[in-house]
Amino acid sequence: KHHIVFLKTHKTGSSTFQNILFRLGEKEGLVFAFPARSFQFSYPSNFSKKSVKELPENATEFDIICSHMRLDVEEVKKVMPMDSVYLTILRDPVESFESVFVYYGSYVPAFKLASEFPDPLTAFLEKPDLYYNSTMLSNSIAKNPMAYDLGLRAHDSDGPSLQELQKIEKTFSLVMITEYFDESLILAKELLGLNLEDIIYLKLNARQKEDVVSISKDQAAKIRTWNLLDVALYNHFRKKLQNKIEHYGTQRMEQEVRTLRGLIAEVTQQCIQDKAVKPEQLEEKLRPWQPNTVSIFGYNLKGNLTQVEYDKCLRLAWPELQYHSFLYNKQYRKSM
Ligand SMILES: *[C@@H]1O[C@H](CO)[C@@H](O)[C@H](O)[C@H]1NC(C)=O
Ligand SMILES: *[C@@H]1O[C@H](CO)[C@@H](O)[C@H](O)[C@H]1NC(C)=O
Ligand SMILES: *[C@@H]1O[C@H](CO)[C@@H](O)[C@H](O)[C@H]1NC(C)=O
Ligand SMILES: *[C@@H]1O[C@H](CO)[C@@H](O)[C@H](O)[C@H]1NC(C)=O
Repeated sequence: KHHIVFLKTHKTGSSTFQNILFRLGEKEGLVFAFPARSFQFSYPSNFSKKSVKELPENATEFDIICSHMRLDVEEVKKVMPMDSVYLTILRDPVESFESVFVYYGSYVPAFKLASEFPDPLTAFLEKPDLYYNSTMLSNSIAKNPMAYDLGLRAHDSDGPSLQELQKIEKTFSLVMITEYFDESLILAKELLGLNLEDIIYLKLNARQKEDVVSISKDQAAKIRTWNLLDVALYNHFRKKLQNKIEHYGTQRMEQEVRTLRGLIAEVTQQCIQDKAVKPEQLEEKLRPWQPNTVSIFGYNLKGNLTQVEYDKCLRLAWPELQYHSFLYNKQYRKSM
């Protein structure tokens, strides 16, 4: 039986992996540890057992946890079985910081202060310390957002200590890398004993292209300096993933990735009306939650699907909040 802890990091492609876990959990009847309130575990505060909804009546343990939190391993261990497999995902900090900056531009005070300039990102990167007040909890994600999610001291300006890296290595069986998303999925499949069918996915929660800020070399260098801890983590675990791919067998990996992409193309052809479309073109059931900063794309399903096909296709395209609510309602036999 699967016992899985997925630390869902911000703006790394984690929603796409969470959807895979939602489908796995539903298929296998796993018990989800859901937040007691809303969709996150009291983020940006540290994870606490208290923020978890109690076990459903007919269950004796939780099997899977995969909603946003700031990790505190000792607290997670109070909720999840001891033999749980821990996974997370990291993305190139230049990309993930750009995404965090734009997505949370009007929510995070440090970003909001820079938003009055014609080019907010350039203004922010010019003098980040002018806008960033590290004592404000609502600024948590404004510096080293991935390290913050992992529970590290993200507001500091130096890299991780050896001890911190070792602790993460000891905790996580797999740190996936967004730039090697498909390869990471194959490794996750091996680790969890899944089939290729289980890891078929549609890219979820992505912005429309127009909302992605293109980053100059100078900006990229400044983002790296500002997010030194994220850079160190990313470089470390990217190297580690590359080693795992080599160990798995580069050719074998290429073959698996090719097969996976073939399956994804097939399912996309079967399920999806166009490609990803703007939120205005989506029915409510399939429309991802929209921040007030950028447009998040989603998928319309083909109109001629049989009920069985529809149920399968819906789950692939279902945005996080809708699928989460559905699973919650099913597990507790009451509405969120
Ligand atoms: C608990 O009840 C729900 C709703 O009836 C059911 O879907 C689920 O399979 C049950 N789980 C266990 C572990 O018995
Ligand atoms: C930073 O935020 C804290 C908590 O809100 C506040 O007390 C403090 O005055 C702020 N510092 C500056 C320099 O604005
Ligand atoms: C949250 O976790 C961090 C990192 O472990 C720790 O330094 C901090 O004191 C914790 N915050 C609270 C309010 O417990
Ligand atoms: C649905 O329509 C598409 C063309 O729009 C076609 O390729 C597909 O075979 C149809 N599927 C079914 C189940 O009729």
